[in-house]
Amino acid sequence: MPAVQITGIGAIAPSQVVTNDDLASVVATSDEWIASRTGIRQRHILRPDESLLDLAVQAAQEALVRAGRSALDIDLLILATSTPEDLFGSATRLQKELGAVRAVGMDLTAACSGFVFAVATGSQFIRTGTFKTVLIVAADGLSRWTNWEDRTTCILFGDGAGAVVLEAGETEGILGFELRSDGSGVHQLTIESQRQAVDLPSSFAVARSQYQHIYMNGREVYRFAVEAVPDLIEKTLAIHNVVPSAVKGYFLHQANQRILDAVANRLRIPKESIASNIARYGNTSSASVPLILEEWVKADRLQPGELFVMAGFGAGLSWGVILARWGRI
Ligand code: UT7
Repeated sequence: MPAVQITGIGAIAPSQVVTNDDLASVVATSDEWIASRTGIRQRHILRPDESLLDLAVQAAQEALVRAGRSALDIDLLILATSTPEDLFGSATRLQKELGAVRAVGMDLTAACSGFVFAVATGSQFIRTGTFKTVLIVAADGLSRWTNWEDRTTCILFGDGAGAVVLEAGETEGILGFELRSDGSGVHQLTIESQRQAVDLPSSFAVARSQYQHIYMNGREVYRFAVEAVPDLIEKTLAIHNVVPSAVKGYFLHQANQRILDAVANRLRIPKESIASNIARYGNTSSASVPLILEEWVKADRLQPGELFVMAGFGAGLSWGVILARWGRI
């Protein structure tokens, strides 16, 4: 069975920066409240004339350059997003923009677990020998679905995109993964579609769907995250006989600094091994894991051969953990 290696990574956020003070002029909040409850100081937000797909293209191109690959090498392209610019999916538009004419493209929706679920999915096609080169792109523009009058959610989210190239190789990069879903918590975090009957002069009845704003029961999702995520990390490490301290870096979905600190406490590892850039980007949904992983790679904080963990969690409810070994970049 071919091994799966991560051979390139890219990430980008929009240039417009929105600080906590900027938000305090929109809703009743303060830098002190946001920073102390979440760790967030600022986030990057798409301007009205900017496209999420343009970010996805840039992240993908950076990952391809770092992998030493061209778009023509891609066999499979998975776009992890909950905010496609087309409900039928945006992967084939991305395929077109990249010129990845050989690739099969599809969208994958798993909210803030999207990147982890997509890497796990893509790696299976390599392992079975179906494909050799897979491009995973995670891009979300939650600012477009935010209720800017709801201070409990509008302070949390930012926009961004990240990408990795997965390739068949000889040394193992993706050592294992565990994925979970719990639909009993689906109502805790939603962007629901509402139906409205359409008045037609007809003998049949139809409705039109319209998506609403983000709704989140923050306390419940927090409770779920601080329990389920460290549980699954421990389980994944135990399956592979790895102790938490042997892992160089933990790249967790950036939802709240307090969640990251709670995971560090549970695993009895230093806080510094849980990577964090939430202060600068906020919660970028599926893009958060590649955004922070790319920072560590660029800063040479992750060396070839070192173990690392990626974990996503969020709406669904969904959560997933990947144990990996850094390879050539
Ligand atoms: O990405 C998917 C995964 N997402 C997560 O994991 C998010 C998990 N949840 C959280 O991170 C936290 O629950 C939040 C950051 C969303 C909220 O923090 P919290 O400590 O759970 O606050 P809370 O919702 O319990 O609210 C505490 C108080 C409330 O006032 P009362 O009822 O105590 O009078 C809120 O109305 O803070 C108030 N509040 C605010 N005050 C100032 C809520 N939002 C704000 C705000 N500014 N922006």
